[in-house]
Amino acid sequence: MRVFVTGASGWIGSAVVPELINAGHQVLGLARSDSAAATLETHRAEVLRGDMRDLDLLREGARKTDAVLHLAYNHDFSQMEQAGRADRDALTAFAEELAGSDRPVVIASGLLGLPVGREATEEDLHEAHEGLPPRFRAELLAKEWARERGVYTSVVRLAPTVHGVGDWGFITSYVAIARQLGTAFYIGDGSNRWPAISRADAATLYRLSIERPRAGAVLHGAAEHVAFRDIAEAVGRKLDLPVASLAPEAAQEKFGALATFYALGVAASTAATREHYGWEPSGPTLLQDIADGAYTD
Ligand SMILES: NC(=O)c1ccc[n+]([C@@H]2O[C@H](COP(=O)([O-])OP(=O)(O)OC[C@H]3O[C@@H](n4cnc5c(N)ncnc54)[C@H](OP(=O)(O)O)[C@@H]3O)[C@@H](O)[C@H]2O)c1
Repeated sequence: MRVFVTGASGWIGSAVVPELINAGHQVLGLARSDSAAATLETHRAEVLRGDMRDLDLLREGARKTDAVLHLAYNHDFSQMEQAGRADRDALTAFAEELAGSDRPVVIASGLLGLPVGREATEEDLHEAHEGLPPRFRAELLAKEWARERGVYTSVVRLAPTVHGVGDWGFITSYVAIARQLGTAFYIGDGSNRWPAISRADAATLYRLSIERPRAGAVLHGAAEHVAFRDIAEAVGRKLDLPVASLAPEAAQEKFGALATFYALGVAASTAATREHYGWEPSGPTLLQDIADGAYTD
C-alpha cells in the first residue's frame, strides 16, 4: 500500500513511517521544513513538501496514495481553537477526496475526556455541543463522513502518554516539575488511572488501522492503565525525591494548567480494538521506561 502520512516527522509519525516501510508499504510523508524532509528521507520515504493548512496539497497527497494517516497537529495550547479547526479542515479535505472509494483516512484523538466511573468503550460517543474539546469535534466529523458518505474514516484515540525516549508530552513535563519542586506529587490519593502506550505499540496500531480498515471505526490505543500515584513513585525513585499527595485545591499552584490533566483518569476498554485489528501491545510499560531512564538520562 502507498500511504500518505502527515506529521510524519513528529514523535509518533517518525515511528509510524519505519513501521509501515518495514511491513512492505511505501510512504509519502508531508514535511514543512528541510529537517522534516531529511528525517523522512532517512527512513526511505518520499516527501511532499508543504504545510497542512494547504488543503489542495493534502488532497494531492490523498489522491496519489491508497490510505491517509493524519498525525500532524499544532500542540500550541494558546491556539487550541485554531489547531482544532485546521485539524477538521484537513479531515474534510481528505474525506472529500476519498469519498466514493474504500481508501481509509485515519485521524488521531485522545482517551482523556471519555466518561469516567465506568469502562469507556470504542462505542462511546461524545454529544455534539459547543464546549466539546476540538479533538472530539473531529471525531464527530469523522463519524459523520462515514455515516453519510460511506467514507472509510476512522479514529485512533491514543493514551495521553505515548512513552519512550524522546517523548515531549505530559510525563516529560511532570518529571521537569518534580525536579523543580523537589517532590514527586500526585493529586488526592493518586488512584486516577492514566492510560499509557509505548511509541512502538502506537505505531503498530496505526499500521493495522489501514491494513484492516473499517468505515467509522474508533480504535483505543492504551496498553495499560497506571495509577498516577505509581507514576509519582517511579519518578521519585528514579530522581531520589520524596513522593507526596497534593490536595486537589493546591494542585493548580504546583502544576499550573497541567493540574487538570494530572487529576484526570479514564478506564478505556481496548477489547474491540484488539479483537478486530489483532493488536497485541508488546512494548515496555510506562513504569519500565521511567525506571530505565527514558525521562531522566
Ligand atoms: N504524543 C502523545 O502522547 C499523544 C497522545 C495522544 C494523542 N496524540 C496525537 O497524535 C498525533 C501525533 O502526535 P505526536 O506526539 O507525534 O506530535 P508531534 O511530535 O508534536 O508532531 C506533530 C507533527 O505535526 C507536524 N505539523 C504541525 N503543524 C503542521 C503544519 N502546519 N503543517 C505540516 N505539519 C505540521 C509537525 O511537523 P514538524 O516536524 O515540521 O514540526 C510534526 O511532524 C497528534 O494528533 C497528537 O495530538 C499524541
